[in-house]
Amino acid sequence: MKEKLEGLKKEFSQELEKIKSSADLESLSNKYLGRKNGSLTLLMKEMKELPKEKMPLVGKLANEIKEFLLSQMSTAKSKLENKNKSDNFFDPTLPGTEQPVGHLHMVSQAIREISAIFEHIGFQRERYPEVEWDYYGFEALNMPQGHPARDEWETFFIDREPINKKFGQRILTPHTSSGQVREMEKNILPIRMMNISKTYRRQIDASHSPMFHQFEGLVVDQDINITHLKGTVEYFVKRFFGPDREIRLRPHHFQFTEPSFEVDISCGVCDGKGCKLCKEGWLELAGAGMVHPNVLKAGGIDPKVYGGFAFGWGVERCYMMKSGLNIDDIRLLYKNDLRVINQF
Ligand code: DAH
Repeated sequence: MKEKLEGLKKEFSQELEKIKSSADLESLSNKYLGRKNGSLTLLMKEMKELPKEKMPLVGKLANEIKEFLLSQMSTAKSKLENKNKSDNFFDPTLPGTEQPVGHLHMVSQAIREISAIFEHIGFQRERYPEVEWDYYGFEALNMPQGHPARDEWETFFIDREPINKKFGQRILTPHTSSGQVREMEKNILPIRMMNISKTYRRQIDASHSPMFHQFEGLVVDQDINITHLKGTVEYFVKRFFGPDREIRLRPHHFQFTEPSFEVDISCGVCDGKGCKLCKEGWLELAGAGMVHPNVLKAGGIDPKVYGGFAFGWGVERCYMMKSGLNIDDIRLLYKNDLRVINQF
């Protein structure tokens, strides 16, 4: 019996060394100490058959071996646990993996800045369809079908039959002025509207992209005159381009304003003295004017009681003319080349 017990101990020790997981340990424990068929359990049952005088000695040995098995298995268990811990060791003090953080596209930045400037003086941003009717893009703006002025807006037409005579064909809006009569039709006066949106024209070169952005301001109220227009434009220019920049209004022609102007801004490179970029000290910025009576009428407003002014400028163009920025091709803004985009 004594040899059997010693043999069992030896065999157990050899098997314990091969253990790799807590599942292995569990089956080892069952094999030796399992209640019904564990080898040590069976040996202990056998001991009952021994002559009485041998019992104490063998009994003691059997108990010692049982203790030995239990303590060996508990050590093995904590070793396994520690190994698991070190495999999954997590050090919360290590610096994290840095994720690349993006930023707003330059055009979005410009739009936010422009919005904030006009909101500051009471303009409210509105939205109108980008897929527009000929009516709002041209007809209601005093440019009837076949009028040659339409040619300036190299329009994308949508290949579909017009749904009715009044609205005409569907177009991609070629300018933000298409929001003017839509705003008037809401029948809420006075109007201080700002429309910043995508616009589309069939043009592509260093200073044109077929999709670009414009911002349009429209004010309709009583007793509105050119000084309101000039003051508003000047306020924007000084906030956006810097306090040293000057503006001038140059007579021009648009069908939807009378009188009409082109707004020039003093050149930021030579401070208005004249240089290679501007030639005579001024850069051409945008269109503006006093809302034409026919446009007010199209919007259901009586031009004898109300008047207004409007202006519509390119977002990209303004952004590119901002002091200190040297972007010579508008298409760079839309190439998604991070080497360019990350500079701004
Ligand atoms: N819509 C014109 C364009 O795209 C710009 C413009 C000129 C807008 C005069 C206006 C305006 O509101 O009054 O070229």
